[in-house]
Amino acid sequence: MRILLFTGKGGVGKSTLAAGTAALAAAAGHRTLVLSTDAAHSLADALALDVTSDPGVAAGERLSEPVEVADRLWVQQVDAQLRFEQSWADIQGYLLSVLAAAGLDPVAAEELTVLPGAEEVLALLELRLHAASGRWDVVVVDCAPTAETLRLLALPEALGWYIDRVLPVERRVVKALRPVLTRAAGVPMPGDTVFDAVVRLHAELDEVRALLTGDDASVRIVLTPESVVLAEARRSLTTLSLYGYRVDGVVANRVFPAEGADDWRAGWVVAQDAVLAEVEESFAGLPLWRSEYRPGEPVGVAAVRDLAADTYAGTDPLAAPEGEGPFRVTSDRHGTVLHLALPLAGKADVDLARNGDDLVVTVGSYRRLLTVPAGLARLRVAGARVEDGELQVRFVEEEKRAEA
Ligand SMILES: Nc1ncnc2c1ncn2[C@@H]1O[C@H](COP(=O)(O)OP(=O)(O)OP(=O)(O)O)[C@@H](O)[C@H]1O
Ligand SMILES: [Mg+2]
Repeated sequence: MRILLFTGKGGVGKSTLAAGTAALAAAAGHRTLVLSTDAAHSLADALALDVTSDPGVAAGERLSEPVEVADRLWVQQVDAQLRFEQSWADIQGYLLSVLAAAGLDPVAAEELTVLPGAEEVLALLELRLHAASGRWDVVVVDCAPTAETLRLLALPEALGWYIDRVLPVERRVVKALRPVLTRAAGVPMPGDTVFDAVVRLHAELDEVRALLTGDDASVRIVLTPESVVLAEARRSLTTLSLYGYRVDGVVANRVFPAEGADDWRAGWVVAQDAVLAEVEESFAGLPLWRSEYRPGEPVGVAAVRDLAADTYAGTDPLAAPEGEGPFRVTSDRHGTVLHLALPLAGKADVDLARNGDDLVVTVGSYRRLLTVPAGLARLRVAGARVEDGELQVRFVEEEKRAEA
C-alpha cells in the first residue's frame, strides 16, 4: 500500500493536490483512498461533495467512513473527536478523578484533560486499520498545515521514549505505593487500566509511525512561489528528515502562466520566477512539479484530476521514493558512522548530546530523542559533524580498560 502525505503552509493547495493526486491514481486503476485529518472540510470542498454537518445525517454521508465518489476513488474525513475519545477515555478518566479529588469543578476538569491538537494525531491511527484491511493500493493523506503535521509526526516516538524509560519505573513505584498514597493524600493513583491505555496508545502510534516512515510512504511538500512560504517549506524539509520521514518531491502551486500576460501578471511572473529558482536550489535532487494558477478554483473530481495530470506532466505520481531515506549506518575501518539526513541545516543549527542509549538531536525548536541502534549503544561517540546536509556521528570501540 503506497502512502502519500501532503503537507505545507496553510492555504497553499494541500487539499486540492491531495484530492487531485488521488483522483489521478484512481483513474489509473488503483484502489485509492484520500483521507483528511483536518476538522475543516476542505477535502470535501475540493471534491465538491455535499457534506452536511446536520446531526440527523448518517455517519457515512458525513464521510467519517470511506465513501466512493468516483470509480475506485474513496474519500474519508476521519472523525478525530470520536477516535480521540476512544483512545484517550481511560487516561482522561484517571486525570478527571485526580482533579475531582483536588476539588476542581468537573466542567473545568474536563477542559483541562483535553489535549490540544491531539485529535489530529489520533486521527492518523485510522491508517493502521486501512493498512490491515488490504482494501487499498494507495492512501493519500491530506494533512493539517505544517507545524501541526510536524508535531504530529514526532509524537509516536516521543511517547515511546516516555513509555520505555519512565513508565516501567513509575508503574513499579505506583504499585508499591498505591495503597499508602491513596490513603494519605486522598489522591487516586493511576490503576493498571491507565497504564494499559497509555501502552496501548503507544503501540498503535508506533504502528502508524512504522507505516509513515516505511519504504512505501513519503511526504510531498506543497508550496506557493512566495519567499515566506519557501522559508517554511525549507524548515519543514529539515524537520521531516530529523524525524525520519522521507520527502519525495515538492509541488509549487499557483504558478502564473507566462503567456499573454498583462503588466500586472507579468510582474508576478518575474517575482515567482525568482522564488522558483530558489526553490529549485533549495530542493535540488528532489522532483519539483509546477502546478498552474487556474483562472478559477479547481473544484470537483474532474477539475482536481486535470490539475494533477498537468502538474505531474506524465511523470508517475506514485513512483517509489528514491534514495536511502534519512537514516542509515555505515562502517569503515575506523568505526561505525550513523548518518541522519538534515538537508538545509547548517552546523550552527544542529545540537547533539548523548544521554545513555539516546542521542538527543536538536535542530532549531525541534528535538528528537534518537535511540541508538542496539549494536552501537555500547560504543563511544568519537566525534560528530554536519556535512553534505547530514549529521554524521562516529562511534568507536571503548578503549580497553585494564581488567582485574
Ligand atoms: N492551482 C490553483 N489554481 C487556482 N486555485 C487554486 C489552485 N490550487 C488551489 N486553489 C484554490 O485555493 C484555495 C485553497 O486550496 P486548498 O484548500 O487546497 O489549500 P490547503 O493548503 O488545503 O488549505 P488549508 O491549509 O486551509 O487546508 C481553494 O479555494 C482552492 O480551490
Ligand atoms: Mg486543506
